[in-house]
Amino acid sequence: MTRTFSRFATGVLIALSLAACSGDDSATGEGPRADAGEVNIYSSRHYDTDLALYEDFTEQTGITVNRIEADADALIERIASEGDLTSADLLVTVDAGRLWRAEEAGILAPVESDVLAERLPDHLRHPEGLWFGLSTRARVIIYNEDAGRPEGLDTYADLAGPAWRGDICIRSSSNIYNISLLSSIIAHRGAEAAEDWARGVVANFARPPQGNDTAQIESVASGECRIAVVNTYYLARFAGSEDPQERAIWDAIGVIFPDQDGVGTHINVSGAGLVRNAPNRENAIRFLEYLTSESAQRYFADGNNEYPAVEGMDGNSAVARLGAFRADTLNASAIGRNQRGAVEIFDRAGWN
Ligand SMILES: [Fe+2]
Repeated sequence: MTRTFSRFATGVLIALSLAACSGDDSATGEGPRADAGEVNIYSSRHYDTDLALYEDFTEQTGITVNRIEADADALIERIASEGDLTSADLLVTVDAGRLWRAEEAGILAPVESDVLAERLPDHLRHPEGLWFGLSTRARVIIYNEDAGRPEGLDTYADLAGPAWRGDICIRSSSNIYNISLLSSIIAHRGAEAAEDWARGVVANFARPPQGNDTAQIESVASGECRIAVVNTYYLARFAGSEDPQERAIWDAIGVIFPDQDGVGTHINVSGAGLVRNAPNRENAIRFLEYLTSESAQRYFADGNNEYPAVEGMDGNSAVARLGAFRADTLNASAIGRNQRGAVEIFDRAGWN
């Protein structure tokens, strides 16, 4: 209770101080605010480890970090409606689809930074620097260990085959992780093949889509579903758990990283982009660069059991239990572009 309240209170205080900040501005009639020694972060991530990062950045640079937390779509809408009066410097969110929505809303500005270009691989950055991937998660296939590894299930395409009738559990198609997965299939194999795939998977459903990725994991462990598709960070929560019941669930599950002999396993990003009307542009870029430092990457990725975006860095020990894999290097902006087509295919395929 206290914790929730103090979080809420902090949010209100930040909101008030930001409001006061833009109020001052309009009162003096000055143009865009100059660097006032602060950076305003609008984030849909809400992990305590992110807070530690903000504090560390302030310690290193003297720049105060103010944050507003809300659902990504709400933040995008808010920044768009605030226009050139916005206090937002940086939008931090999860999933290429949401970064794309921000891009479509016209609220992001390109950033040119040698540090970011050097530290982040091409496929995890927007081609024009509108956003930068900071950590990744993979969408993998899991199976019930007692039922044995499903022979011949090595790719996403295999999920649509007739061998798995009544075996597959997966969450609803309104979920952005599935939209992004299908978007990547459209990018690689075309819309027609993607639609055939969606229809094939629907024909293999063990039950109508229900619950989040954690619910799919539990259903595979219990044997209700033989096969499911889930994000790695949900699995890592079980794999790294101290709770015997959660560890038992992890022990009942096998993991398949799809498409290892092909394009690699589909991954998605957590990322951030500079807001077009950012009042503290330089500080925002500095913060972005800071987030690609090795120590910040560690924290940022560990906050949600993700993989660091910077090349050559591995996931934490919980993530490592899932195994090593080769990731698909399709640019995340291609995933964004195909979102609309993916939603239409899901509808036609009857994937609820
Ligand atoms: Fe999630």
